Amino acid sequence: MIPSQRHLFAIPRDVAYLNCAYMGPLMNSVVSACDDGVRMKATPWTLTIPDFYDPVDEARALFAGIVNADAKGVAMVPAASYGIETAVRNLRLDAGQHVLTLADQFPSQVYPWRRMSRRDGGEVLQIPVPKGQAATSAVLDAITDATSIVSVGNVLWTNGALIDLIAVREACDRVGAALVLDLTQSAGALPIDFAKVRPDFAVAAGYKWLLCPYTTGFLYVAPQHRDGEPLEEGWITRKDSEKFSALVEYTEDYQPGAIRFDMGQRANFALMPGVIAALKQITEWGVENLYNTLSARNSDLCKRLSALGLTPTPDDARGGHFIGAGLPDGAPADLLAQLSERQIYLSERGGSLRITPHLWNDDEDYDRLIVALGDIL
Ligand SMILES: Cc1ncc(COP(=O)(O)O)c(C=O)c1O
Repeated sequence: MIPSQRHLFAIPRDVAYLNCAYMGPLMNSVVSACDDGVRMKATPWTLTIPDFYDPVDEARALFAGIVNADAKGVAMVPAASYGIETAVRNLRLDAGQHVLTLADQFPSQVYPWRRMSRRDGGEVLQIPVPKGQAATSAVLDAITDATSIVSVGNVLWTNGALIDLIAVREACDRVGAALVLDLTQSAGALPIDFAKVRPDFAVAAGYKWLLCPYTTGFLYVAPQHRDGEPLEEGWITRKDSEKFSALVEYTEDYQPGAIRFDMGQRANFALMPGVIAALKQITEWGVENLYNTLSARNSDLCKRLSALGLTPTPDDARGGHFIGAGLPDGAPADLLAQLSERQIYLSERGGSLRITPHLWNDDEDYDRLIVALGDIL
């Protein structure tokens, strides 16, 4: 168990912030790294050519360590939508085939597939997940010979319903389907082993559980897709781009690995130091330790929520870091507003109260939530 790490964050004592699934707060170390990063651009003559390359590579390696992937397969992207769109650009869907997604899945992982189905033919299926259950069997039952792509996450973003991605990968292998993941609601908090899950594409926006600045994220691309087509044809991803004075000696060759899929201006001097600081801290905590800590605390919290008449997704059906709880009949429509008046912050998605604490929380936060819910409900 990792003790509360509240001292690393700038969260006032009277704020109970239980909303990592909405927005992870930046640690003080991340703010100060970004502050230094912004200042670099005040003195552009101090920027060196390696500043365009080395910090990004360090960030790729740190992310790769967190998900057990090969750092060469990691591209820098600004958003989950960018990563899914890259998958759309590089996969095909024949008429009569489908992309399998979940009902209530996050829009950034639905709209790109809809556009693909308009481009290629085929359909986008959205499979409902029965309330209170993990989503694995719903996904496995829906995979057929007509499945071309399965596009899910490790948990459903509304209620935390868990998806066993190793089982899904095995089912994809049986029918020859590609696996395209959005891990925005789990990477950094829920352990995952890419060597076992073998995603074709896997994206994670950085601003939630990876505790990174907004507009930063990672896209993993499997070796068989690394010769694919990026969304952008920038200069820095091309071979020998380090030779700034020779950039107009155009080349059709790219830098190796997944670098070709990097977003434009990926060097991001202001934010990249913050990305590195955040991922170093997560690596130091250890995702396994972090997950075990959050799981144990959340499991206690769920018992207390149940005693108040809420119906949290059972422990074995959800990601341990993520609580989704149904509200009792008669819960006021302005529940979230009433909680925020008491400086208690969480969210409601798809009819579930979404409670997603992290290491900055402590017993006082949990107690305040329970007392407030007891008063209001
Ligand atoms: C599952 C999931 N993916 C992605 C995002 C963010 O999407 P994007 O990075 O495209 O803004 C969210 C935000 O809530 C999310 O819950």
